Amino acid sequence: MGDITRIGVIGAGLMGSGIAEVTAKAGIDVVVVEADATAADAGRTRIEKSLRRGVDKGKLSAEDADAALARLTVTTELDACADRELVIEAVAENEAVKLDVFGRLDSIVRDPDAILASNTSSLPIARLAMATRRPDRVVGLHFFNPVPVQKLVEVIPSLVTADDTTARATAFATDVLGKTVVRAADRAGFVVNALLIPYLLSAIRMLEAGHASAEDIDNGMVLGCAHPMGPLRLADLVGLDTTKAVADSMYEEYKEPLYAAPPLLLRMVDAGHYGRKSGRGFYDYT
Ligand code: CAA
Ligand code: NAD
Repeated sequence: MGDITRIGVIGAGLMGSGIAEVTAKAGIDVVVVEADATAADAGRTRIEKSLRRGVDKGKLSAEDADAALARLTVTTELDACADRELVIEAVAENEAVKLDVFGRLDSIVRDPDAILASNTSSLPIARLAMATRRPDRVVGLHFFNPVPVQKLVEVIPSLVTADDTTARATAFATDVLGKTVVRAADRAGFVVNALLIPYLLSAIRMLEAGHASAEDIDNGMVLGCAHPMGPLRLADLVGLDTTKAVADSMYEEYKEPLYAAPPLLLRMVDAGHYGRKSGRGFYDYT
């Protein structure tokens, strides 16, 4: 199974809960750390619901779902990561919050060879690495939403990542989780978001300009190009707060107008319309 048998996941939102679920299903002991008790309860419920859905769809036996749940501990104590061999950070796309988490994890995780990975969509891995005293053990491990469904993981070594860190993180994603890996340079957006985010922003600009309705923009791409969902529904799935944060860091990196968040996206985030997770985005989910 590889050398990693105990992992930590920081953040149990959309992504952290998915990463924790697929890892526990793969037979690994998982500690999940959330910011507070309410978020921890919500994360645990999200994982339980997703496992139940797997059982209802006949993809997983009830025994395997119970066994996966038994391998999961959800807590609010970062100290619970002390004995972990790999920790995957999946807190919100906010550099200050991530730097704080990496600094604290570095002091808490005892094994100096343990890997500290980030699921960031767009922030520089090198910057997160330099918040620790083990920059050679820091790597990007970027999963896709929904984690149980999407087969890809991007592996992003920074300029200071050791080769064996990249190799162990890659082996974890492929051999343990059964994902397919693509390697990307430490540039904002890596491979997939560098292509996807300008597309999502273009759809928002199109809606903002009155070019077409949200439904027609989405139907255009679903029925015309066989995408599984249209760009506005996809932005709602990703989260409009996350879409804006990713666009902002890509704009900061490249200074190209195609990465600039359009005013409609800014106002929706200001209004708390974060998409599916808040119940309202380009569509209503209540
Ligand atoms: N957990 C487990 N399985 C799930 C699931 C979940 N959360 N959501 C859907 N599924 C499974 C279903 O069980 C179903 O499986 P079967 O076909 O075997 O029955 C399959 O996925 C399809 O699900 P549904 O029929 O319920 O719904 P759908 O056909 O509308 O698919 C979708 C939903 C999987 C989200 C699909 O629309 C899709 O793939 N959309 C594109 C998502 C995408 O592009 N993600 C990348 C976002 S960008 C990103 O992640 C990077 C970033 O940094 C922002
Ligand atoms: P989210 O808003 O659903 O979840 C973030 C979680 O982090 C929340 O539950 C929050 O309570 C928790 N959190 C915040 N500060 C914390 C702390 N100090 N300690 C522990 N938990 C903390 O966000 P998400 O969509 O899961 O995104 C998480 C990360 O994954 C971001 O970096 C994002 O860019 C990346 N990502 C998102 C997607 C996506 O489609 N949403 C896809 C790939 C990668």
